[in-house]
Amino acid sequence: MCNPGDAAGPDGGVRTGAGLDKDTDSCGFFRGNVCVFQKEERRCRRMKMLFLNVSPRRDGGVARMLEAMADEARARGAEVVCERVSSLSVRACTGCMVCRGEGRCVLPPDDAQRVLELLRWCDVLVVGTPCYWGNMPGTLKVLFDRMVYGMMGEGRRGMPRPLLEGRRAWLVVTCTTPWPFNVWFRQSRGTVRALREVLRWSGFRVAGCIERGGTRQRPVDGRDLERCRRAVRRLCG
Ligand SMILES: Cc1cc2nc3c(=O)[nH]c(=O)nc-3n(C[C@H](O)[C@H](O)[C@H](O)COP(=O)(O)O)c2cc1C
Repeated sequence: MCNPGDAAGPDGGVRTGAGLDKDTDSCGFFRGNVCVFQKEERRCRRMKMLFLNVSPRRDGGVARMLEAMADEARARGAEVVCERVSSLSVRACTGCMVCRGEGRCVLPPDDAQRVLELLRWCDVLVVGTPCYWGNMPGTLKVLFDRMVYGMMGEGRRGMPRPLLEGRRAWLVVTCTTPWPFNVWFRQSRGTVRALREVLRWSGFRVAGCIERGGTRQRPVDGRDLERCRRAVRRLCG
């Protein structure tokens, strides 16, 4: 039975294998008498994946691509939670800045606090979004604004401090501008850049990105869905 926590050192880091029985260690924690339990822990427990679908279109390209990814993730044993951003109830940030000092939002609880808990819970965040005006849709921006205090802190000199380190992210972005103009004219590429900005400062490592231009002339098809499933196979290892 795989129980990586048993081998954890008090500092939560790598510890040598002295005192543990190498032969009975079914997870193979020892690498040259060194216990690499954190890596093994990730491999042994179910991966937690949060899918944020930012498109308001129920049968749009983003919805279909994220559905393919979520199905593949479930088939690979991941724990999957999906949220439709356009269905959430989230009030806009008032910019009071109280959250920066108190670490909590003063607005009445709504879906922003709930999604922040999901961000803390997940190992992998998948953001699927259409490009709106070369950027992310306003619904997602409002959500990120409301969660800022749980995503990025400030050091003593006002420097950003990522609060969600150790997590990975994958981006799926669609737009009508065909390739390569979606990249050259910063359409889907502008959306990717804006998302990277938020995620990087929050501590996420953006592991990959699927950018799909020209959705009006050529709607999302089976090849795109297979590309999405492949991405999940890469993420799940
Ligand atoms: C308000 C709005 C703004 C948009 N802005 C852009 C844009 O700046 N560049 C672009 O190429 N497509 C733009 N589009 C088109 C969408 O990105 C495109 O239709 C996308 O494939 C929709 O994905 P979905 O069907 O999954 O929602 C916009 C669409 C809407 C509704």
